[in-house]
Amino acid sequence: MQAKITEIHQQIADFQIENKEQLEAFRIAYVGRKGVIGDLFDGLKNVPQEERRAVGQELNALKEAAQNKFNEFQALMESASDKSVAIEFDLTLPNIPNENGTIHPLTLVRARIIEIFAKMGFNVSDGPEIESDFYNFTALNFAENHPAREMQDTFFIEKKGGNVADDMLLRTHTSNVQIRLMQNQKPPLRSIMPGRVYRNEAISARAHCLFHQVEGLYVDKNVGFKDLKDTLYYFAKEMFGQDTKVRYRPSYFPFTEPSAEIDITCLICKGKGCNVCKYTGWVEIAGSGMVDPNVLEQCGIDSQEYTGFAFGMGIERITMLKYQIKDLRLFTENDVRFLRQFEGL
Ligand code: DAH
Repeated sequence: MQAKITEIHQQIADFQIENKEQLEAFRIAYVGRKGVIGDLFDGLKNVPQEERRAVGQELNALKEAAQNKFNEFQALMESASDKSVAIEFDLTLPNIPNENGTIHPLTLVRARIIEIFAKMGFNVSDGPEIESDFYNFTALNFAENHPAREMQDTFFIEKKGGNVADDMLLRTHTSNVQIRLMQNQKPPLRSIMPGRVYRNEAISARAHCLFHQVEGLYVDKNVGFKDLKDTLYYFAKEMFGQDTKVRYRPSYFPFTEPSAEIDITCLICKGKGCNVCKYTGWVEIAGSGMVDPNVLEQCGIDSQEYTGFAFGMGIERITMLKYQIKDLRLFTENDVRFLRQFEGL
C-alpha cells in the first residue's frame, strides 16, 4: 500500500496537463471516485487495524494533492479562456457611462443639520437603537403608567416581568442618548444626536414605524430659555431661509420644564394658510424645553449648579418641509425617480 501511494504521488506530479482533454483525463484517473485513489480507499479495509489510521491519513493527503493539482490547472485554463474573450472586446466602442448614485435626501438633510449646529459648537453623539426602558423612559421622568410606554407606541423586545425599567425595547426617540451622554460626561455638554427611532404605527403618508430624529442637548452653568430660543431661531433661518419666522408654543414633555413646541411659517403658503399647515400659516418642527432638574439629578448632575436645554426634531419632517415632499413612504421605497431629484444638492 505504502509503495503504491508513493508511486501515485509521483504520477500526479509528472502528469502533463496542457489542454482540457488532459485535464479531464487527470480528473478521471485521480480525482473521480472511480480513479486509482478511490480504489486504494476501498482497499483500506484490508489494511491491519493498527496501521489503518496512519495509512488513511496518507491516503487523504494523496487525495488532496490530486485535488489541488486539478484545481490549479482548472483555474489556469479558465483564466486563459477569459483572456481570449477579452481580446474580442471592441475597443473602438463608446464608453459605458459610469452611473453615480445620489445622496439620499435624509442623509443630505442630516448632514445639513449637523453642519448648522456645528457652527454653534455642537458636536455629534450616538447611542443604541435597542434600549432598555430605563434610558428610553424612566430616566427621562416618564411616570410608570405613562401612556407612551404602552404597546401601541413601543416595540417591546423583552418584558422582564419585574422592574419595568429593565424591559428591552426599540427606542421611540433619540432622547435616550441625552441620558447616556449626561451619565458619561461632565458638563459643559453641547451635542446633537441624530439617529433612527421606531414606533408601532401603521404606515401611511404621514406616519411610519421607523423614522429619524435629531436630539439636541446643551448643559452648562447659566443656560437659560433665551439660549434655547436663540439656538433654534438660528437653526430655522439657516435651514429654511432668512425670512422664516419662528414661534414657541407652550407644551408638555416629561423630561423638560418648561416645554415648548417650535413652529415656523409654512413654507408652502408663506403663512397665508393652506392645507399643509391646516390653514394656520404655521408648521411644527421640533419639541424642546429646559431639562427637568429631576433628569439632571438622575444623571448625577447638580441641578443647583447646572441648567440645560434640549430639543428633538424629526429629520423626515424637516426634509418634507424643506423639499415639499407629501408622502413619508417615498423615503423608504427607493424609487430612483424620486431619489434622482436630489442629485447635486
Ligand atoms: N422626544 C420627543 C419626541 O420624540 C421630542 C423632544 C421634545 C425631545 C422635547 C427633546 C425635548 O429633547 O426637549 O417627541
